[in-house]
Amino acid sequence: MISKLEHMKTASEPSCLRGKHILLAVSAGIAAYKAPLIVRTLRAVGAQVQVVLSANAHHFVTPTTLQAVTGSPVRQDMWDEAAEAAMGHIELARWADIVLVAPATANTLAKLAHGMADDLLSTTCLATQAPIVVAPAMNQRMYQHPATQANLKAVQALGYHIVGPDSGEQACGDDGPGRMSEPDELVAFLASLQVTSVLSGQHVMITAGPTLEPIDPVRYISNHSSGLQGLSIAEAAKAAGAEVILIAGPRVAASSAGIQRLNVVTALEMQSAVQEHLAGIDIFIGVAAVADYRPKLVEQVKMKRSGGESGSLTLEFVENPDIIAGVAQHRPKPLVIGFAAETNNTLEHARAKRIRKQLDAIVLNDIADPSIGFNSLHNAATLIFEHGEITLPKQTKRQLADTLISQLVLIFASQIADTNPGSMSE
Ligand code: C5P
Repeated sequence: MISKLEHMKTASEPSCLRGKHILLAVSAGIAAYKAPLIVRTLRAVGAQVQVVLSANAHHFVTPTTLQAVTGSPVRQDMWDEAAEAAMGHIELARWADIVLVAPATANTLAKLAHGMADDLLSTTCLATQAPIVVAPAMNQRMYQHPATQANLKAVQALGYHIVGPDSGEQACGDDGPGRMSEPDELVAFLASLQVTSVLSGQHVMITAGPTLEPIDPVRYISNHSSGLQGLSIAEAAKAAGAEVILIAGPRVAASSAGIQRLNVVTALEMQSAVQEHLAGIDIFIGVAAVADYRPKLVEQVKMKRSGGESGSLTLEFVENPDIIAGVAQHRPKPLVIGFAAETNNTLEHARAKRIRKQLDAIVLNDIADPSIGFNSLHNAATLIFEHGEITLPKQTKRQLADTLISQLVLIFASQIADTNPGSMSE
């Protein structure tokens, strides 16, 4: 048996890619001839691989070769009626645990940087929630051009990982930076992303999104939560090897295959779903913005203007149950992590909330800053636990989710190991 921390150090062995779904996205550069070798290396460590080709990549590597080495049909056409009847690009985007764009030509990089979606490869990259790793490969002048350098910075800002390129002799006879990293380096990098597979064997429940509390058949009260942060945490926990159950409020975007999902509408429904599936849960992360109150009476027919003189309407509200506080009372007690969206005296309120609700940790969002939090792709937070506080600087919600999972594993190493000792053995 090894400790969780030791496990984190060893988890970047390529074997931690076993069973992972890797989508290899090949664009049209000479380095595409190495794509079959990348596939072989990935399959040798137990990964499942599918390939998507950009519109012109077939000029450099044949789909037949790639189909032979992956054992799966190669996807290259947005207008493949059979595949797209089932929304093939979305399925592919959801299937992937990691997308590796290798080689990434200057053109593909530019498309990724600007969010273009004009072929299957770029569309899939836009549609996926999985981490995207980009291996640039191009002529050294093209690589050093300020436009390409700006595009590299742009994709980094989107949270994509860049590997390479190497420097040296190029196919065109030039010498300089632009050679794609070797397949074994790329695979080693993908394995390093799986550092968070430390959650394997753990059962994680996450609530996400708003709840919606009906007033009458057409009206409701709700809040601005998009559910993206909760969804990203669910995806990060799954990528970390956990069995994930997501209790999702309305409007939460689609989650990957492999995440068990229950859709709910009201706080009461969310509470029932949580309680019903709580047995065996090791870690509970309450990200949902649960409505604190609901209308006392839900009118069965649409309410009409009263026509009275006061011109006002009074609704009576009753308090909703505090779902996370209920989870914290459950025995055996899972590790319980809450979120706090605050606008004023943020630290003070969040610290008090953690103690009042008996949470192991709370993630504080300062929602007074409109560039983060609700309806933003970015977030920044402070992770507050009994013995310390950690600042999680502004980053994409998916990056913040990955960082949060890594931090929780470090802080609660012994508790996470205790809940499921079997998962710690190698
Ligand atoms: O009290 P407040 O809503 O700020 O607490 C936020 C935390 O409590 C979040 O983790 C949220 O998911 C959880 N919560 C809950 N049930 C409620 C209200 C909040 O689980 N009724």
